[in-house]
Amino acid sequence: MTLILGIESSCDETAAALVASDRRILAHRVAGQETAHRPFGGVVPEIAARAHVEILPGLIEQVLAEADLRLADVDAIAATAGPGLIGGVMVGLVTAKGMALASGKPLVAVNHLEGHALSPMLTDPDLAFPYLLLLVSGGHCQLLAVDGVGRYRRLATTIDDAAGEAFDKSAKLLGLGFPGGPAVEAAARSGDPRAVKLPRPLVGSAEPHFSFAGLKSAVLRARDSGLYRAEDIAASFQQAVVDCLVDRTARAILRVPEATALVVAGGVAANQAVRGALTGLADAHGLPFVAPPLWLCTDNAAMIAWAGALRFEAGLTDGLDAPARARWPLDPDAEKARGAGVKA
Ligand code: KG4
Ligand code: ZN
Repeated sequence: MTLILGIESSCDETAAALVASDRRILAHRVAGQETAHRPFGGVVPEIAARAHVEILPGLIEQVLAEADLRLADVDAIAATAGPGLIGGVMVGLVTAKGMALASGKPLVAVNHLEGHALSPMLTDPDLAFPYLLLLVSGGHCQLLAVDGVGRYRRLATTIDDAAGEAFDKSAKLLGLGFPGGPAVEAAARSGDPRAVKLPRPLVGSAEPHFSFAGLKSAVLRARDSGLYRAEDIAASFQQAVVDCLVDRTARAILRVPEATALVVAGGVAANQAVRGALTGLADAHGLPFVAPPLWLCTDNAAMIAWAGALRFEAGLTDGLDAPARARWPLDPDAEKARGAGVKA
């Protein structure tokens, strides 16, 4: 059994957690920064980085105190080393390096996407490799075959916006507030998903890639038409995203016949409509469906500590020269999606 301290600071959540390799979460805390970013309607990287500097040390002290442990008790220190907003990533990674240096404990530099990718295993002991993963967050929208720790095959990615980004931008267009995903989901509850005809980009195409930029533009046109209530546009938008995710994931299922389960992770996996539709898809293919609890979908440090524990036990520790990386694809061999922008 190993005990890992995890640190997460790649976007606007400052988080620390203590997780054991037997899946016990001894303590975990997430400090959001919504009030700092709300006036700007989105995450301001510089403000986020400064907030991590102020919040993180106290948060680490809190999780240690809560678990009644000292730094000397942990086996390794794991921190997100990318991808993400580089200022924030540096705060968490350098904090972990300082602690590793002072305590003589090994450092594990964790890819934030690997944190999301392995998170479903933390709460589901029955989940086994290989599985098909839909990773849907604010920065990414990918389908991955997860073959093992550090072993990922990217089957598809978005050629423009990530799904969470589309939620956030649509929320802003509709004046629903920040953060956008939960705001759109809440508004959609009192809307009609058939009220507005919106496109389903790439649905039916052979490669399982995603595209959401056109959908966002269609939301803007619907709003400007003055014909619809914001709730109806939100519900129609959410339904369009769900339809795209289901169609593209169905395509990917056929490419990974060896998959033991259909798994969803990342912030958008907190969405009930998304979870419901994917449950139906998995059922239709005779696959178990696995989704982490809501708190584990959005950014947190328990998933970083857990990925750190699996990497540590596989002998994958890092030197104190480990780089902070703004971009860091999980599958470096993946081909660029046709028409893709610069996203990893
Ligand atoms: O995984 P995450 O916390 O951070 C990234 O790594 O990006 O994902 C954040 C994204 C945001 O775009 C947020 O709007 C979206 O996940 N999100 C949701 C919901 N909760 C968070 N999207 C739709 N429905 C939700 N309930
Ligand atoms: Zn994330």
